[in-house]
Amino acid sequence: MSGGQRVDWTSRPAGPLNGVVRVPGDKSVSHRAMMLGAIAEGVSRIHGFLEGEDTRATAAVMQQLGVRIDAFADGERVVHGVGLHGLRAATGALDCGNAGTGMRLLTGLLAGQAFDSTLVGDESLSRRPMRRVTDPLAAMGARIDSQDGLPPLHVHGGQPLRGIHYTLPVASAQVKSALLLAGLYAEGETEVIEPHPTRDYTERMLAAFGWPIAFSPGRAKLTGGHALRATDVRVPADFSSAAFFLVAGSIVPGAELRLPAVGLNPRRTGLLQALRLMGADIRIENAGESGGEPVGDLVVRHAPLHGIELPEALVPDMIDEFPVLFVAAAAAEGATVVSGAAELRVKESDRLASMAAGLKALGVRIEERPDGATIHGGPIGAGRIGSHGDHRIAMSFVVAGLVAAGPVSIGDCANVATSFPGFMELANGCGFALDVAG
Ligand code: S3P
Repeated sequence: MSGGQRVDWTSRPAGPLNGVVRVPGDKSVSHRAMMLGAIAEGVSRIHGFLEGEDTRATAAVMQQLGVRIDAFADGERVVHGVGLHGLRAATGALDCGNAGTGMRLLTGLLAGQAFDSTLVGDESLSRRPMRRVTDPLAAMGARIDSQDGLPPLHVHGGQPLRGIHYTLPVASAQVKSALLLAGLYAEGETEVIEPHPTRDYTERMLAAFGWPIAFSPGRAKLTGGHALRATDVRVPADFSSAAFFLVAGSIVPGAELRLPAVGLNPRRTGLLQALRLMGADIRIENAGESGGEPVGDLVVRHAPLHGIELPEALVPDMIDEFPVLFVAAAAAEGATVVSGAAELRVKESDRLASMAAGLKALGVRIEERPDGATIHGGPIGAGRIGSHGDHRIAMSFVVAGLVAAGPVSIGDCANVATSFPGFMELANGCGFALDVAG
């Protein structure tokens, strides 16, 4: 949840949607680039850093830890790396804001330092489970105090770490990354094995910064005691931000949108496959590579969608896209069945509960289960829903408003700035009818 004032939005039926939509930089890549740049030797440049509250919080934390970061327009950042052992104790608590990625990765990074640190977050982050990182880090020798598994976290410095061979109980790139970052400071080998492969940005970026690492889908292995060499990072556009426009373009009659140079890492694009299974018309043009990541323009045209039984194998590859998938399902013909997605209950909000409450308030039939839901396509009514302090819930209901019978009012939308600054302007620029509720 954003710390600012409460802002409500109203999204009205609109269309057709048209134009070029340039979504901002990838959140996951921006967090990692900032952290690795900070502990590398030399000066790293980040192009296309996400100017969102989450990633700015991570940059501010690195500054508090003694790293000089120069900020320029359009997401240009110059990070003056201090080397693996060059961070200094901060004077106060380190505020990760709304960012689970920030807090979990920093916990791993800080476990290897010589000094103590305290990590705090906003109301939503303060409810998110941290044992998934603190338990395996403790097994590596770290000492971390939590509030019964929740933030704030106090990370004790000066603890010698040893490598670990760890099989993750849940597929989580954040947990994997926390362990790999701690592994940089550990004696011996750290290996992480995942039940399902998750996004591999930490692995790819460690390699780009010159750290020896072996990885393949579902496995990553490194040893401590090397050095990171500064490098330049080009951040692709965030697929998770593009997702709102992919669904909007699919469900609004007459729509045609182009989203240039979006990151298409296969561990992120599950929604693309899901929407195509539902009948969506989404093409990739100008496919290429940028900064070692596959990128391409996404071109979406309106197409009638039908319900599907979502293959469970797609769940980790679209873990952040379920709120907007539920909107696509509500606008589709027939039922969509989601299962194997219990992790949605521990995101920025309980996303199964938040989406079920919001869709019901708009007259959509949805049956919620512990690990998923069945969403019945049909008319979407006008109404008032709450974002539950969750940026992706807010933006998903903006998309629902496009095809609703009347205005959809969404309570508490300031949190959209955590991941998608400028969302309202971009949306209205291509034909949405979105404004601040009076
Ligand atoms: C992220 C991993 C995912 C995702 C989050 C970003 C990352 O979380 O939901 O938005 O950057 O590593 P989990 O690791 O909890 O699945």
